[in-house]
Amino acid sequence: MSPSSSQVAAAESARRPGPEHLVVLEASPTEVDLGGLTVPAWAYGGRLAGPALRLRAGEQLVATVRNRLPAETTVHWHGVTLRNDADGVPHVTQEPIPAGGEFVYRFTVPAPGTYWFHPHSGLQLDRGLSGPLIVDDPQEPLAYDHEWIVVLDDWLDRTPEAIYAELIRTGGRTGPGGMMGRGVMGTVAYPHHLINGRLPADPDVLHARPGDRIRLRLINAGGDTAYRVVLGGHRMTVTHTDGLPIRPVPADTLLIGMGERYDVLVTAADGVFPLVALADGKNGGGLALLRTGGGMPPPAGVRPGELGGLLPAYEQMKADDKTALTDRDGARTLRTRLTGGMMRFEWGFDGRVFDHDRVDLVLSAGERIRLEIANTTMMWHPVHLHGHSFAVGDPSGPRKDTVGVFPGRTVVLLFDADNPGRWMLHCHNAYHAEAGMMTLLGYRA
Ligand code: C2O
Ligand code: CU
Repeated sequence: MSPSSSQVAAAESARRPGPEHLVVLEASPTEVDLGGLTVPAWAYGGRLAGPALRLRAGEQLVATVRNRLPAETTVHWHGVTLRNDADGVPHVTQEPIPAGGEFVYRFTVPAPGTYWFHPHSGLQLDRGLSGPLIVDDPQEPLAYDHEWIVVLDDWLDRTPEAIYAELIRTGGRTGPGGMMGRGVMGTVAYPHHLINGRLPADPDVLHARPGDRIRLRLINAGGDTAYRVVLGGHRMTVTHTDGLPIRPVPADTLLIGMGERYDVLVTAADGVFPLVALADGKNGGGLALLRTGGGMPPPAGVRPGELGGLLPAYEQMKADDKTALTDRDGARTLRTRLTGGMMRFEWGFDGRVFDHDRVDLVLSAGERIRLEIANTTMMWHPVHLHGHSFAVGDPSGPRKDTVGVFPGRTVVLLFDADNPGRWMLHCHNAYHAEAGMMTLLGYRA
């Protein structure tokens, strides 16, 4: 089924498109100040980790994207269960936007939550192009005094294309200032890790009062880094996975893969507290501060004790009652394998690299799908499905759109085929995706 089919239009009218919300997004080369260090970047609106787009569930986003980059691009609205022809995948759902060109995305945003947007062309994401997309619930059930959008990002001092060429040449073996060997969680040694576009030496600060309830929207926009996140001196209550509500669970720390989001609530203590995002399996990390009182900020390299505390796994999370997938018989099982290795830096699905003309997994509208993804590689992969949210493990599992798969493990994703079109399933490691670890699901016409 093609993205321009009448079924795609019919699925969109069933969403009952609400009022239009107009935005202009300009992608351009620029210079950004990371806090004492000015670097070249490609960014939306000339800044990192933003501008945050914000609208209400049910509204239509009408986003005019102006491409001022010296390359073609697209914009993908990560996590939104939107109409297929607005999904922003070059050569699959649209022709790329040429350098100097313009494209208007128009789609209904059906559900509230924490989403984000980024290009789906090559390695552009790892040059700084991304931003949060926050969809407010007109009947927000949570009460809180502050909201803090927290964008985690790994920062290069070279172009991602240079890094990629080196990965291919060396098979990821350690080289001068570049790779870090065969780390399970990621391969590229980034010189910097940012929170909201800031270095630890000059961090982003949220000011609040002791006792305030704060909602954090944590987004990993990194290219090749999973983060272990803690707020020193606080226990978090996790309320949402990839934008969708779960039964709240306590956590001292969270492991957040590329593309994943968690919403958490904290009750602020009195003082100055580090929000630390430790680059898992690497050196370094990002830092931001919560300030509710006096005192000296912690040193940039602070490693709060909560890093060794309670870390809930997907199995310990359950979708909330309204969000859980209904129990239903007759799921059809599809199986796929994550394949490849570091030696030739070749990554794929079922031993093949991506081909935008080849649909590997075929769905029929209306069926319940049980998708088993087996990781046969020695690395960890955060796998993202476009256009749908799935339950992890069983129908009561947390609803997500991106799921980390450890080496040698198989994850089960359950979802209903309720959004016709052609949809990507891929690893959200920018370098693995570029090497071919992407595939297509397509609905039968
Ligand atoms: Cu956030 Cu296909 O990606
Ligand atoms: Cu991967």
